[in-house]
Formats: sequence, structure tokens, C-alpha cells
Amino acid sequence: AENGYDLWLRYKPSGNQTYRQHITAVLTTGSSPTMKAVRDELTRGLSGLLQTAITHSTAVNRDGIVIAGTPHSSPLIHNAGIAPLLQQAGEEGFIIVTKKIGDKKCILISGNSDVGVLYGAFHFLRLLQTEQPVEQLHIVSTPRIKLRMLNHWDNLDRTVERGYAGFSIWNWHTLPGYIDQRYIDYARANASIGINGTVLTNVNANATILTKPYLEKVKALADVFRPYGIKVYLTARFSAPVETGGLKTADPLNEEVRQWWTKKVKEIYTYIPDFGGFLVKANSEGQPGPQDYQRTHADGANMLADALAPFSGIVIWRAFVYSNENPADRHKQAYDDFVPLDGRFRPNVMVQVKNGAIDFMPREPFHPLFGAMPKTPLMMEFQVTQEYLGQGTHLVFLAPLFAETLQSDSYQKGPGSTVAKVIDGSMDGHPLTGIAGVANIGSDINWCGHPFAQANWYALGRLAWDHTLSSKQIAEEWLRMSYSNDERFIGTASKLMLESRDIMVQYANPIGLHHIMGTSHHYGPAPWVNDLNRPEWNPVYYHRADSTGIGFNRTATGSNALAQYHPEARARWENMLTCDEKNLLWFHHVPWDFRMKSGRSLWDELCYQYYTGAERAGKMRDTWQTLQPYVDRQRFEQVSMLLQIQHEEAIWWRNACLLYFQTFSKRLIPAEYEKPS
Ligand code: GCU
Repeated sequence: AENGYDLWLRYKPSGNQTYRQHITAVLTTGSSPTMKAVRDELTRGLSGLLQTAITHSTAVNRDGIVIAGTPHSSPLIHNAGIAPLLQQAGEEGFIIVTKKIGDKKCILISGNSDVGVLYGAFHFLRLLQTEQPVEQLHIVSTPRIKLRMLNHWDNLDRTVERGYAGFSIWNWHTLPGYIDQRYIDYARANASIGINGTVLTNVNANATILTKPYLEKVKALADVFRPYGIKVYLTARFSAPVETGGLKTADPLNEEVRQWWTKKVKEIYTYIPDFGGFLVKANSEGQPGPQDYQRTHADGANMLADALAPFSGIVIWRAFVYSNENPADRHKQAYDDFVPLDGRFRPNVMVQVKNGAIDFMPREPFHPLFGAMPKTPLMMEFQVTQEYLGQGTHLVFLAPLFAETLQSDSYQKGPGSTVAKVIDGSMDGHPLTGIAGVANIGSDINWCGHPFAQANWYALGRLAWDHTLSSKQIAEEWLRMSYSNDERFIGTASKLMLESRDIMVQYANPIGLHHIMGTSHHYGPAPWVNDLNRPEWNPVYYHRADSTGIGFNRTATGSNALAQYHPEARARWENMLTCDEKNLLWFHHVPWDFRMKSGRSLWDELCYQYYTGAERAGKMRDTWQTLQPYVDRQRFEQVSMLLQIQHEEAIWWRNACLLYFQTFSKRLIPAEYEKPS
């Protein structure tokens, strides 16, 4: 059945009949577990795509042999004259080239490490899956970002914070003895898109994961993932020395505390010799941290970094902080807390920053920390799980959101100082670079809940490898691999995907509105909520609608969060009259009769956006119906039902928000929208 379990690694029979002439056998060298994975994947992929039993050759005795290996494991490759290309490939990259070996025309897949070859093998299969020509290949590819990670927000009881695809795939109960096939397929899927790190546990950490019985389970997972180039990381609860170590304090400058972590880290490495390190959420949303002891984030991070350094482990310290005690605009706190610490972190500390300053909203301006901490390697944190973007029911393709942030210009080193250049280390010369995505993976048959949510996992990996890839290319690759190469399908389906995030913004958070969703579960609209005990949790804190207008004044006459941006970046937003309207209400409190670029008043524009968004959501559903001929029944119906729900909920968002905001604007909804939809 087409239940989606195979993700984008379906390897269905290819429509391209020439492939069988160009590919006749596989020759792999080396006996490492990674090279075994290469051999297995090429065999599985090619036999599915070419519909023929794949011969494993030991000599170059015919044309069309796919030779995979490193120059170290394969004399053939060593002598193939590809050394200069391999040099360009770097540590983890790969090359795929057509070469004559003797008088035989072969395809060489190589890299400087076995995992590079594995990435190359997956890329080669992707070329076939997407029906690219393979007669004359000359590909060199190397990742632009070093750490390409998933962050699972998985709890030890198998619930998943903000997870919409079932329970956690980590079955702590049956580990370490039972290795679910899912763990292996998870590793294959990640390796196929270049993901090389995974944080197994929730940022709201439970210290139990650091105890011996759990470390044995973590070791079992690390052993499964290692051949696929994936390192395991854990979240570290800052108060673990108190909770599981029996100490009276977790003060990072206390000698006993430091020793406790040193010992703990040593213990972890006896189980997992290539353990990646810790991800830490501290002093945020009630989590313990160094500030509990009047120490700084740097004090806390450095203590852990010192324990990890002898093993080359790293600390990924999150900048997602805001606290009750701080009355300032929540937008400002991360910058205020972290910029003064620039230069004070150990070299093996990265600071992980969410794409925007609030919290994974459907649209946010880039986080002002990007470019503002040149001495510290900043890691990007995107949210792949769709907490605020329709969760498991709405089709929202996130590559355009990721790309929008990455391409934003911080201006910190002059024009062209994009967030991507901050993140890939090129702007400030950092060797340690990273992108993380909060995973959308669970135990649902199809891993991600919504069939199209798989595309967001895929997009995260592809952009982490190469942030210059266009959203269109990523959408098309994923569609071809997951559904069909039929051009009629691809054209329509990719357009549907590429528009989906804009549509969601229109029916939920247009013109820079944000954080107006339902309380705690974060689903659907609830702009009226005003009774939560922390002011910055209430939607009214963000939209500030009143009789004069709507929006959050973050200019100098308001919270002045804008001052955290470089003057040239700020210039796009500073003046209400010229502000990029996509973020207008993010930065300004705007009068209801304000004239928008469309010529409409702000109120009319708000109505226009909500109505258009809901209408376009309906069109997504209708468009999908035209694709039935190209899609298997099961997935076709799943997506049909979900798009129907999405349309209904788009109307729910529209009606709830407009009727509520109307109580302030006291203006009519333009008559043209009054017809029933
Ligand atoms: C959001 C989310 C929380 C999560 C937090 C974080 O606020 O709703 O569930 O813990 O982000 O990123 O730490």
C-alpha cells in the first residue's frame, strides 16, 4: 500500500528506459558498515528503479558499472585521476563523474570519507528518481553547513512536545535490546538529505536521560546511526547535578558541580565515543539555568563546554529566552541577554537562535541576533513541526519560509550580509556552523502525519546542505521522488506547495500580525485571549487592537525593538509609510484608516487578506482534485480530506479574527465579501 512509509526513498520503476543501458552493475569497495550501507542502498534503489537484478561486479569488465568508494578503499578510484575533484569535495562532500576506466565507461561515486560516498550514492539515486540525464556526469558537491541537525522534542514517556505525528519513534521501553527497523530507515532518510546530527530529547529536558540505564539505550541508537554519518546529541537539564547527582546546587562555578559534569561526560563517552554534545535550554519558560545562581549564559555554557572539550564535544546553547521578570518587549530579551556575552563563549559553544525573535510564527522578520554576535558561531533553529502553521492538518511547505530568513540581509558587514552568510560561517570566519530543525517525526505510518509534511523534513536537510537551492527545486525534487515525474503533475503540485505558506499567512497572520493563536495548544485563532498570568503569553499583547488601530509599535516611540537591527536593515521597517507591508503590524500600531499600497484602508486590507487567504485555501483543495490521475488512492484521499479541513479552518481563522477585530475597528466588512463561500 502507498502508506508513505518509504518517504522520498520509494525507488519506483523509472520511466526512463535509457538508464538500463547506462547502468549495468555496481562495484563497491571497502568493508566498513558505511560502505555496506552504500552497497545496500544502491542495490535496493537501482533494482527498484531499473526493475532488474543488480549485478555486483568485482572487475571493470563492461560499460556502465557504478563504482563507489574512497581513494583509500579503492585502488581503482585512487588511480582514476580524480584527485583534484576530490579535493574540492572536502571532508563530507562527494563527486559523481563519468570516467573511462581502461576502455569501459563507468560512473564513479566517490568522496574522501565513506559517509561522503554514502551521500553521493543517495544523490545518484536522486538523479535517477527525478529522471535526470546520467550519460555524462560531472558533479562535485560539498555541504555549506557543518552541523545539519534534527532536534526532537521527544519526552521519555514517548509524548512529543509539539508533535503531530503520533508518539515518539524512540521506544525507550524496548531499547537497547530491540532495534526497530524504523531506526534504520530514519537514519537512511536523514543520510539521503545530508542530516548528520540528531538531538534525541526535548529541550524541556528530563535529567533521567543522563542516567546509566538510559545511556545504554542511547548507545544502541548511536550504534545504529553511526554508519549513516549521524551523531547523537542529548539535551542536558541544567539542574541534573541536583536531581540525579544528589548535589545541593547546580551553580556552574561550583567545583563539585563542575566535577559532576566532567564525570558525567566521561561516562557518556564510554558508551558513545563519538557523542556530539549537549543542547541546552536554560532560564527560559521555567527551565533551570545559570541565572538561578546569578551567573550568565556564558558561565553555564562554558562549564559544559569544558567538560566536553577533551572529547571534541560541543555545547549548543539556545538563545530562546524570555522571562516573567523582564517587563520589556519579549522581542528584545534574547538580544539583550546575549549580545553582551559575544566573545565570552568557549570555542566549542554554539548559540542556537530561532529564525525570528518571537516564536516560529508563520512569518517573522529575521532574528536581530543574526550578525550581531560576530565572535560567536550562531546556529539556526527552524521549526519543521508546524506548531503555529496548522500542525498536522494544514499543507504548508516551509522551504519558502526558511529561504526568506536565510536570504534576509542583516547589513552587519555591509549590504549582502545575509543571514545565510552568518550561519554558514563565511561572514565572520567561523569553522563551526550549523542548522537545526525541530523535527516533525513520529510513529505515524508515514512518519510526519500530513503526507506533505514529509517535504518539510526533506527541505530542512536539503537547505542545510546547500542554502542556495531554490524552494522550487526542492519542491520538485521531493514531488518527483515521492509521487510522480509526470510534468503535468509536477507543474501544478509544485505551484500548490510554493504558494501554501503565503496562503497560510493570509488566512491566519496577515500584514505582520502574530501570536494570536489558541492558548497553550496553539491551534486555531484566539486573538481575544487576555487572561494568562504572563502578559507576553496573551495574544492581546501582540496585536494591541484598540479603537485607533492595530499592531505592535516596536519603533522608538514604542518598545524600540527595531533598534536591535542594523540601521540599514531597520530602514525597511522603521517608517510606517514605507514599511514592508508583510511586517507592518509587527512593527507599527497602524490607524484603521491608514492608506495601504493597494489603495485600501488598513481595515479593508485586513478583510481582503483574510478573505483572499481563505478563498485560496479552497482553491488548494480544488487544485488537488485535478491531480487525482497521478496519485495513488490512499495518499490522494488523505490529502483531499486534509485540504478540506484546511479550507474550513481558514474560514474559521478569517471569521474569528475579523469579527473580533471589528469590535475595535467598528467598520463594516466590505460588501463584496458578503456572499457566502
Ligand atoms: C515554544 C513551544 C514550546 C517549546 C518552546 C521552545 O514556545 O510552544 O513548547 O518548549 O517553544 O522552543 O523552547
